[in-house]
Amino acid sequence: MYDGDIASVLVTEQQIRDKTAELAELVARDYARDVAGPGPGPGSDLLLVGVLKGAVMFMTDFARALPLPVQLEFMAVSSYGSATSSSGVVRILKDLDRDIAGRHVLIVEDIIDSGLTLSWLMKNLESRRPASLQVCTLLRKPDAVKVDVPVKYVGFDIPNEFVVGYGLDYAERYRDLPYIGTLDPSVYA
Ligand code: XMP
Ligand code: MG
Repeated sequence: MYDGDIASVLVTEQQIRDKTAELAELVARDYARDVAGPGPGPGSDLLLVGVLKGAVMFMTDFARALPLPVQLEFMAVSSYGSATSSSGVVRILKDLDRDIAGRHVLIVEDIIDSGLTLSWLMKNLESRRPASLQVCTLLRKPDAVKVDVPVKYVGFDIPNEFVVGYGLDYAERYRDLPYIGTLDPSVYA
């Protein structure tokens, strides 16, 4: 598939699977008391908020790896700026379907680069008064540390290279690759 387009595999399918299980175990342990407290029910389930479209693959695998009842919500946002760097000015293309007041919310992200999108999203969701708000990202790039966004769960710290696969795209392609890889320069040419 996509013969010749992928220069190198950065994270293999097996590594993604192992890390997803590891993160799921951590999250389940941290939330076990909150979501299984007195009077558990639909309103106390952990609420995963995935950011479309990149986080879809990770979100669905992560949700299935979590030994907790979870509910799934999705948001679509677009950040103003060039195609390759975000400005931090964000527009909501698709909002959550329900109120998150009083809910334990975990944002599920594919990748954090400048962190500007996430920083905006955190503030936006925080203003809706959830019981708690944390972030779980599969990938994190070096620049992310420059922005003061608390990211509790991180899968892999990767070098500052453009990556595709497992939800991540270049011009909407390569999302269906089961691994994370770097693109061959010939693709940009
Ligand atoms: P910021 O910079 O606000 O933006 O953290 C994060 C968003 O930028 C996209 N992004 C990438 N997409 N390969 C991609 O396919 C990459 O290497 C990459 N780096 C950043 C992505 O949409 C992410 O949510
Ligand atoms: Mg993208």
